[in-house]
Amino acid sequence: MLKSNKSTLASLVSGLAFCVLTGNAGEPDISKLPAPAAKTGVTYAKDIQPMLKESCLKCHGEDRPKGKYRVDSREALIKGGSSDEAAVVIGKSEKSPIVHYVADLVEEMEMPPAEKREKYPALKTEQIALLRAWIDQGAK
Ligand code: HEC
Repeated sequence: MLKSNKSTLASLVSGLAFCVLTGNAGEPDISKLPAPAAKTGVTYAKDIQPMLKESCLKCHGEDRPKGKYRVDSREALIKGGSSDEAAVVIGKSEKSPIVHYVADLVEEMEMPPAEKREKYPALKTEQIALLRAWIDQGAK
């Protein structure tokens, strides 16, 4: 018991040292992402738009969208918002900021925001897997 506490502490300390050294601005840890879903023929209209309705649309619809980002069309969803960075990198879900955000890999950019999840539920693992599959299949 004591031993495992010690090793937990050691890994905490080395993790902290890593954060300090890298300024914690490193790449998101994509090893934590769920694998893309096996489903083929995933489309925005059939699979993605309905999935984002409950968790994202209230903040990212046509009425004063947060971060100037809208998810109610395929084009807007891909394009991104005020960051001026594409939210979807077509063909590369592991490089797409939207995937990093919904999987909580980026601190302070968890989507839906961590403190709002009673109202806006986080995407489920299967849903993140489907989002990845859509992006990897060309975001049709
Ligand atoms: C309660 C409101 C709220 C909900 C719900 C929400 N977001 Fe956000 N979102 C924000 C805010 C606020 C920002 C701007 C944050 C910032 O730039 O610091 C943002 C920014 C973003 C951005 C970055 C846009 C850019 O280029 O700057 C993406 C991508 C995003 N959200 C995706 C999503 C997705 C996908 C969902 C649903 C799974 C979602 N959000 C749900 C409030 C919300």
